[in-house]
Amino acid sequence: PGHAVAALAAYPSLSCTGGPFQVRSEWGVADDIFCAGNDSVFTFVEDVLKEVMALFPSTYIHIGGDEAPKVRWKACQKCQARIRAEGLKDEMELQSYFVKRVERFLKANGRRLIGWDEILEGGLAPEATVMSWRGVQGGIDAAKENHDVIMTPTDFCYFDYYQADPATEPETIGGMVTLKTVYGFEPTPPVLSPAQARHILGAQGNLWTEYIDSPSKAEYMAYPRAIALAEVNWSPKETRNWEDFLDRLDSQYKRLEYMGVNFSKGSLQVDITTMRDSANHRNLVVISSETKGHDIFYTLDGSEPGPGSTKYTEPFEVKSTSTVRACLVKDNEVKGQVN
Ligand code: ACM
Ligand code: ZN
Repeated sequence: PGHAVAALAAYPSLSCTGGPFQVRSEWGVADDIFCAGNDSVFTFVEDVLKEVMALFPSTYIHIGGDEAPKVRWKACQKCQARIRAEGLKDEMELQSYFVKRVERFLKANGRRLIGWDEILEGGLAPEATVMSWRGVQGGIDAAKENHDVIMTPTDFCYFDYYQADPATEPETIGGMVTLKTVYGFEPTPPVLSPAQARHILGAQGNLWTEYIDSPSKAEYMAYPRAIALAEVNWSPKETRNWEDFLDRLDSQYKRLEYMGVNFSKGSLQVDITTMRDSANHRNLVVISSETKGHDIFYTLDGSEPGPGSTKYTEPFEVKSTSTVRACLVKDNEVKGQVN
């Protein structure tokens, strides 16, 4: 029922208040959502889904279901009348009523419903598949109820988040999901029994485009993280090995270059920070990288570092004003970005 303002701008009578509404020009969550007490809403939604089904032959249809604030429903006579007529407890159960009704329609047309984990609120539709985005708990809860699940938690799977230091990356919506973070994701939570675990179908990367204005930037955000997620999905847990993956990634980078795919080298950069050595009353420069199997070389005079510069072995003290620059080196070649 949420994320519907564009539809409400065209059909304000499908809202709780009657509008009027402007199509949003900014992203975000809106209080105005479809009125769940108005049968014309379901006629409209079914008409839209008929067109969607005519276009897409897929078994699964994703109906959203996320980010639907309940303020309008709480204040709406029609919504409150629906709650009473259907014997529902509250607005959460009204959302569940909404999604179940849409599921019945999809099912009658031979399709299956997927929705974001908010569709758990107020009770899951009988055969719904859940996409768990606000963490993995929604997915765990759904799997325990024997529902299929696709894991796509923000902390591991949001490819619209930064993948390296924001100071060196194009602007994004925020957050931080590095390549290593993605690679370390385990879609099947250990709390599930083997039977429940079979309901975890896999993981999906989400690439929302609020801050993505070109195909080239979309590629940049998706790669190489999509490669890491593919390996997470397609290989057994026991065979996954970050350092081995990084070795193999070198040839993937060449392949992406050959194919003209724009991609981030954010994983191939160093992080330069300082650390207080209290015991010895010193400030130390610490250079690190999430990438293993590379050496770090640095300069202190602002010049471009490379294989001929000083090799970093441990945190070091800088006694006078310096400009620390560093990079990763492998096989005598600079890899990734110089910081
Ligand atoms: C979501 O990111 N709102 C599913
Ligand atoms: Zn209403």
